[in-house]
Amino acid sequence: MRLVRTVAELRAALAASGEGETGLVPTMGAYHGGHLALLRAARQENDLVVVSLFVNPAQFDSGDDLAAYPRDEERDARIAAEEGTDILFAPAVEELYPPGYQTWIDVEELSRGLEGAARPGHFRGVATVCCKLFNLVRPTRAYFGQKDAQQVAVVRRMARDLHLAVELRIVPTVRDEDGLALSSRNARLSPEDRRRALALPRALATRDPERARELLDGAAVDYVEVADFEPRVLAAAIRVGDTRLIDNVVLEGDLE
Ligand code: PAJ
Repeated sequence: MRLVRTVAELRAALAASGEGETGLVPTMGAYHGGHLALLRAARQENDLVVVSLFVNPAQFDSGDDLAAYPRDEERDARIAAEEGTDILFAPAVEELYPPGYQTWIDVEELSRGLEGAARPGHFRGVATVCCKLFNLVRPTRAYFGQKDAQQVAVVRRMARDLHLAVELRIVPTVRDEDGLALSSRNARLSPEDRRRALALPRALATRDPERARELLDGAAVDYVEVADFEPRVLAAAIRVGDTRLIDNVVLEGDLE
């Protein structure tokens, strides 16, 4: 695996890799089983696998949340290498957002509800960094998790609207044995928090918004809503202590 930190190094590494199909896995690190599923899908389907490891400040609406984001580059790089990554792109913030930076991608409607309502500017940051990564890597395929269903909808819309020649591959949500969707935020949950968090997957498993709301009665619910993405999902966000958890289940199609 080649670890590259600058755009120039990335371009050189890509040029040296020759012809073939490229899979891109955009990540912010702190790898867990969800990330592994994306890395493995990319490895299976492409000649070259490029993974980006970048905690994107533009998608955090609070400085505290950004500062608290778990970082362990050494461990992530080891895992990426073990999973057969060819190029790991881990740029500094100034490399992607140099002084004077002022260009943003706003997927207007899809960015507004659900997570967008709770986290203003979040999807502008996601869409912008994904577009930059697609432009830099020019992947045949890019891999995203169904766990972040609205993120998938936003990136898909952006790719269509901007005529980007990338195929999006969506990987089903990876869960722990108890049903909780894997997330870097789960590490912050105490055993008691975790017990309370399990109400989220249990409620969503009903695939019925009314039943789900009943089962989440008493929890700090941000939203429980059917979202008209492709495919349609029942999505919810709850707060458990200081931790905000999101999850969704597919209502049609065959992802889960
Ligand atoms: P990050 O949270 O690191 O997630 C990277 C990818 O892993 C995303 O596509 C996410 O949906 C997927 N993922 C996370 N948990 C998952 C799970 N339990 N099962 C399946 N997939 C899962 O999402 C981001 O980073 C950023 O917004 C990014 C797209 C990299 C842009 O900065």
